[in-house]
Amino acid sequence: MILVTGSAGFIGANFVLDWLAQHDETVVGLDKLTYAGNLESLASLKDDPRHIFVRGDIGDAELVGQLLKQHRPRAVINFAAESHVDRSIHGPEDFIQTNIVGTFHLLESVRAYWSGMTGEGVIQDNFRFLHVSTDEVYGSLAKGDPAFSETRRYEPNSPYSASKAASDHLVRAYHHTYGLPVLTTNCSNNYGPCQFPEKLIPLMIVNALAGKPLPVYGDGQQIRDWLYVKDHCSAIRCVLEKGHLGEVYNIGGWNEKANLDIVHTICALLDELRPRADDKFYREQIAFVADRPGHDRRYAIDARKVERELGWKPAETFETGIRKTVQWYLDNQGWVDNVQSGSYRQWVEKNYAGRG
Ligand code: NAD
Ligand code: TYD
Repeated sequence: MILVTGSAGFIGANFVLDWLAQHDETVVGLDKLTYAGNLESLASLKDDPRHIFVRGDIGDAELVGQLLKQHRPRAVINFAAESHVDRSIHGPEDFIQTNIVGTFHLLESVRAYWSGMTGEGVIQDNFRFLHVSTDEVYGSLAKGDPAFSETRRYEPNSPYSASKAASDHLVRAYHHTYGLPVLTTNCSNNYGPCQFPEKLIPLMIVNALAGKPLPVYGDGQQIRDWLYVKDHCSAIRCVLEKGHLGEVYNIGGWNEKANLDIVHTICALLDELRPRADDKFYREQIAFVADRPGHDRRYAIDARKVERELGWKPAETFETGIRKTVQWYLDNQGWVDNVQSGSYRQWVEKNYAGRG
């Protein structure tokens, strides 16, 4: 049994689906179902007895304590977070609340559960708390700077990355102070199925298909290091099984790309797979807009530690992953419509009223 927080979000849902495709070990998913949490991503598990879903907040100590007591997971994997930089600029409070205060409460609940295993020897020794974090905690690189290694100084620049940095420090402190068996992963930008269409790649696909402008911030030459979400999930499984306690692992696929190149690639794929009715090219929808405040120029992950020490490697190249992603959004227009619609929110409130 494992407990996965943020299990209805983009990476959490992909992780649960992949986990149950490979293991028979039950997953308890805990998710607040904010705007970013979408149970439709987990619809294929609706009648699967290996999947238990609970709506709730990682900061709800009573609920989390009760779940831990009832299900006795051997690991907790913490995906739950507010995750979008632009939202953190316009309203940082939820980021502080969930990413910092929420992680703190979750750590306290997990510490109480783990400490209570005294006398259970192997079970206590084998327990893991895996915290999923981001490369954005390291700040921004200039052209030619070496990629982020695990020893790089933390220099977060957005309220989002600052809140994630704080949570990483708390996780580290719980290991050093209380001996909690933690692992931390810092991953580059993910893309793939079930990503909420506010992040660069799904937003561009969805807007292109809707005939809307494709908003490129500033000059579009900012660089991100892209990893297909299923490769992130395989890295987390690898770190969970083989990672050394208290260690940090940077996860990335050596795929640095400028934003404008990504948008051009998406446009070209759509021209091929779903040509515009008027025979024009999707790239004509590109619109350069005002830059994001404090916009980090470049991220790049040095993934040699996880490759060398744990033997992890990504399966997808950017070319194969982006094609799969565009195709997924073409095949799942209903998912996009639902996640953006008010009726889905009403359904959540009706069926999962109360906690969350
Ligand atoms: P997401 O926004 O798609 O999903 C986050 C999920 O957490 C949602 O389902 C939401 O309902 C849930 N949630 C939010 N607050 C909660 C709370 N207080 N209690 C319980 N659940 C709550 O995010 P994502 O892209 O899937 O990211 C997952 C994790 O991975 C985050 O911690 C993020 O920082 C990290 N990460 C993301 C990326 C990326 O490119 N998306 C890259 C590296 C690391
Ligand atoms: P995003 O997907 O928000 O991820 P992050 O900010 O966590 O890296 O953005 C990826 C890059 O794309 C980032 O440099 C900002 C840029 N961007 C745009 O140019 N236009 C957009 O509409 C969005 C959402 C992002």
